[in-house]
Amino acid sequence: MAEMRLQKFLARAGVASRRHAEALIAAGHVTVNGAVVTEMGTTVDPSADAVAVDGVPVALPEEGATFMLHKPAGYVTTMSDPQGRPTVATLMADPLTAYPALFPVGRLDADTTGLLLFTTDGELGHGLLHPRRHVDKTYLALVEGRLNDYDLRRLREGLMLDDGPTLPAGARALVGDEARRAERLIGSDAAASGRCQRHGGKRSRAALAGKGSYVEVRLREGRKRQVRRMLEAVGHPVIALHREAFGPLELGDVPRGEVRQLTDAEVAALKELAS
Ligand code: URA
Repeated sequence: MAEMRLQKFLARAGVASRRHAEALIAAGHVTVNGAVVTEMGTTVDPSADAVAVDGVPVALPEEGATFMLHKPAGYVTTMSDPQGRPTVATLMADPLTAYPALFPVGRLDADTTGLLLFTTDGELGHGLLHPRRHVDKTYLALVEGRLNDYDLRRLREGLMLDDGPTLPAGARALVGDEARRAERLIGSDAAASGRCQRHGGKRSRAALAGKGSYVEVRLREGRKRQVRRMLEAVGHPVIALHREAFGPLELGDVPRGEVRQLTDAEVAALKELAS
């Protein structure tokens, strides 16, 4: 964290207003690394200097942080797993040392790849998942067979699942360049996982070699295994599933298994959606 003026540090830490903090400094109440400081121009490094007021240590509140992970297949979305399976927490080891309060915003199935958000901000995380907020999530799926117009219409209009009707969803069969792009994204993830998500061995390779087709599904809700269940309901079981976007955020070129911290502007856009 950057250096800042002592009075600003005290104000941010909630000790006093900036003006009152200046008075405290001038009156000799404030120490930096054990030495009384009365000069107004003094700056401190919040991550290195020990500041105290009348001998009581003062620290800045932990700043919130939000990250996106490119989740590979084979990792369970939980911070610890009693069964000892690989978890997304192992992929978040570095950010977690700086921000131990990070938690995943929703979940992806173990076999699903792609964009998974983590945040320390409970209000943001829960706001984004609230059913009334209807934040769009965009998925690419490799499915068995080819969806026809009727299948796509059923997905778009909403269909009945065992836990109730789905909201209207975006659904597009991908062809040409878009299908090739989806194949690159899903195919490399599925191949790298050593097996193709739903199917093992030969069958998955056959699907990746052209027996299946690619579809983009955009949901405004997030029920358990919803994309898989919707595509199964229209007769096209999912072979591999990848989340490309969450609201306005796209995974972009974050490499598989890697993490990127969101910019202030990206966090602001999410807060807008969540509020
Ligand atoms: N829908 C699913 O079926 N699985 C996921 O992981 C996410 C959305």
